[in-house]
Amino acid sequence: MCGIIGIASKENVSSNIINALRKLEYRGYDSAGIAINTAKKINQRKVKGKLDNLIYALQKDQFDGNTGIGHTRWATHGEPSDKNAHPHSSTSVSLVHNGIIENAAELKKSEEVKDYHFESDTDSEVITALLTFYLKEGLSHLESVQKTISSLEGSYALAIIFSDSEDTIYGAKNGSPLVAGTNGVGNSIGSDSIALSSVANKVCYLEDGDITVLNKESIEIYNLEGERANREFVEIGINESEVSKGPYKHFMEKEIHEHPHAVGETFRQFIDYDKGTITISNINLNFDKISKIYLIACGTAYYSCLVGKYYFEQYARTPVECDMASEFRYRDPVIDPNALCIFVSQSGETADTKAALDYCRKQKIQTLSIVNVKNSSIARDSDHCIYTKAGAEIGVASTKAFTAQLSVLLSLSIHLASEKKFVSVEENIKLCKEIMQAPLLLEQAIERSYSLKDTAKAIINAKGVMYLGRGTAFPLALEGALKFKEISYIHAEGYPAGEMKHGPLALIEKDLPVVCIVPPGPLFHKTISNIQEVIARGGKILMITDDETLESNSENIWEVFRLPKCPKSIEAIVYSVPIHMLAYYTAVELGNDVDQPRNLAKSVTVE
Ligand code: F6R
Repeated sequence: MCGIIGIASKENVSSNIINALRKLEYRGYDSAGIAINTAKKINQRKVKGKLDNLIYALQKDQFDGNTGIGHTRWATHGEPSDKNAHPHSSTSVSLVHNGIIENAAELKKSEEVKDYHFESDTDSEVITALLTFYLKEGLSHLESVQKTISSLEGSYALAIIFSDSEDTIYGAKNGSPLVAGTNGVGNSIGSDSIALSSVANKVCYLEDGDITVLNKESIEIYNLEGERANREFVEIGINESEVSKGPYKHFMEKEIHEHPHAVGETFRQFIDYDKGTITISNINLNFDKISKIYLIACGTAYYSCLVGKYYFEQYARTPVECDMASEFRYRDPVIDPNALCIFVSQSGETADTKAALDYCRKQKIQTLSIVNVKNSSIARDSDHCIYTKAGAEIGVASTKAFTAQLSVLLSLSIHLASEKKFVSVEENIKLCKEIMQAPLLLEQAIERSYSLKDTAKAIINAKGVMYLGRGTAFPLALEGALKFKEISYIHAEGYPAGEMKHGPLALIEKDLPVVCIVPPGPLFHKTISNIQEVIARGGKILMITDDETLESNSENIWEVFRLPKCPKSIEAIVYSVPIHMLAYYTAVELGNDVDQPRNLAKSVTVE
């Protein structure tokens, strides 16, 4: 949350800073700002609202230079406003910050900043105040940065410029991501490598405690001990088409259309084409010894874990506990020493998931992460990592990362089941064949989901929407409700269909449509009975099922949406498509900002 950028270049930097902020906007979009060092004077502009507001402000009052910083904000301390927007500047220094300074209130009362005139309600401004004080005390730029960050508690990624040094940027990191980049034209720092893709061809992922000093010619990195650190720069490996909308109106629409590719590419890593099996060979884990699995994540990634629980228990007969990362470590969990703790995250930067991972590492429990963003903190900090191959996900509402996570969890459970001899080679080959059908079935599901546009039109005035399912369709119902509410702003709730009679049936009325996910199988008839209980109380049902469901089972149902028949193993993956499409079409119909829903941001780097 919050995106920061700093660029030192042989060329003017303002357009590149704006370009980078555009790519960082997914991290927050309630204000934006830029500061540029021009002839030993820092010019800055910062405004409430989206980046477009800043661009508009800059058109009226232009300035440029070769060294500058920028910020896009997701408010934590202080409401979204011009004064709380970053950069936070004094006459000598200007900075942008991502993270939270937990001891900001105490620091503001400290002797060092007692004479400082604070202009904002943010925690970040105290960093400016401290730097200003140490500069006045005669410390060098580097010393004042070192001294300032030594008193900060909490998380930060910082980009700092000083008015008396026209060409240098200082970066510092603890707990929040910071990437350094370089190309022949200059050097840069930013919250992720995507932001640096037009100003760097090589990047280096900085470590906690690092301070970097860069100008257009050079980039130096110092570690926690203040010694020069030799960090590796790697090829950036980002394809610009990945981070553009292409022919689509929204990133979310594009990313839903990328479900087949994300799932296909993710599964491909695990297919042993010689044997025709699912085999995980790229991690060195002793699966034999695993007595229990913990699946830990937040939001949509957590719902993928809930589906994963069914996979591991059904195929590998291994007990599984699912935990929301934000709750996990606070309940002082008793973890079996032979357990494997699996952390699932698209961004690989979610603060709660990372903190849960740190907790397990301290307990010396074996950890594995399932992450989409390469070299992200969670990927680097876990003992083992499997990447989802979803490609860059920009829309704030996660879609293709979810089905890619399901693909890894399914493959991992089949691999574990094979190792534990719960699945024979023949069964593994059969499952592998089923899995190979996923991309095609997903394409067909997308094709059919265009019809949900009309359904969306019919529910935009609903009081709320209920999502129901049983088995793996229950976590899908949770995912459907989350996606729906976060972009439509209409309340939605996911519930196990069988639990309705224990309370929520009381909510049923004609203005509360019920989306019921009913794939064929052992729970089909039980779910149909639950549907009829809803209909009997005046409920309006959208049933999501497949081609083979008989008309007689859809009696009195408002709408039936049919998917192609698909193998049970990949059902949750294929059924995700209409769930995501319905949310998307509803939000579009309502005219909402689909990719940047209000109050939210992607990559939640605060706890
Ligand atoms: C919902 C959504 C969020 C994320 C959650 C975890 O559409 O995107 O609920 O799933 O913030 O994020 P990651 O997967 O990056 O850890």
